[in-house]
Amino acid sequence: MMFSKDYSDSPADLLLDLIHSRMGLFYENGMRDLALDKLVPLMAERGINSALDYYYFLKYGQESETEWRRVETALAVNETYFWREFRQIEAAVAYLLPRLFKDNMGRNIRIWHAACATGEEPYTLVMAMYEANLVDNIPVEIFASDINSKALAHARAAIYPKRSFRAMEQRIKEKYFTPQDKDRYQLVDKIREKVEFFHMNLLDLERMQRIKSVDIIFCRNAFIYFSPDSTKKVIDGFYDILNNPGYLFVAAAESLLKFGTRFELVEIKGAFGYRKTSDE
Ligand SMILES: C[S@@+](CC[C@H](N)C(=O)[O-])C[C@H]1O[C@@H](n2cnc3c(N)ncnc32)[C@H](O)[C@@H]1O
Repeated sequence: MMFSKDYSDSPADLLLDLIHSRMGLFYENGMRDLALDKLVPLMAERGINSALDYYYFLKYGQESETEWRRVETALAVNETYFWREFRQIEAAVAYLLPRLFKDNMGRNIRIWHAACATGEEPYTLVMAMYEANLVDNIPVEIFASDINSKALAHARAAIYPKRSFRAMEQRIKEKYFTPQDKDRYQLVDKIREKVEFFHMNLLDLERMQRIKSVDIIFCRNAFIYFSPDSTKKVIDGFYDILNNPGYLFVAAAESLLKFGTRFELVEIKGAFGYRKTSDE
């Protein structure tokens, strides 16, 4: 038994606090065992058998950065699929892109998918742009990040299992994918090459400030795993790097209004999003 079940000021507590401050992930009491169970195999591989030793290893160890990559991958919940909560993507493609393009005299429109998991979300946006005949008419830069390196490798390879297609029309699947084997499909290059993927921890606010002039951010279904405090830090960071006006889309279940945000809730063609409109 590596972890004591009493978390008050226990080494397990210390470890989960460290993970929370680094990655934003927050585990309610009922979820703490689950999170700790995911770390046990990592500890075993390192020959570490106590939460306290693992805490010190992650905090001060020479190989801590390598180990954090493993922790990030082990703890991430990468559930995603094509055409998920499509209304927001449709609103961005059909309404925001043409408008931003016109208002900004034809400069590139910059879109960031900030917790993209295995890439279905940014690729959905590109396919929607193709479907709307916008790819050759509106210059966009689409970049996508996640904290989970393994998910990013999957996103770059762009080979997807059947479950990724559960909300996508067969017609679109046939148009943009080729069968790879019995159960998997390869995304065509013209969609793949439109998205640039990179590793990024959203709680790395210093690094976030180096991402400049973004027009639209999608960060959906990540804040549900964050504490309110971490969510607030990240949305404040988003606010700073967005252009004015700029737009943020979170998932329907992730209202930001309780955070006293400077963003304004807006409805765009039946989808809800947040707009930065400041006079600063
Ligand atoms: C459920 S997926 C959401 C994927 C996609 N946005 C969607 O809505 O379908 C949540 C993603 O958030 C990522 N994530 C969790 N904590 C993160 C952090 N601190 N920085 C960046 N990404 C993080 C996870 O790795 C995971 O891939």
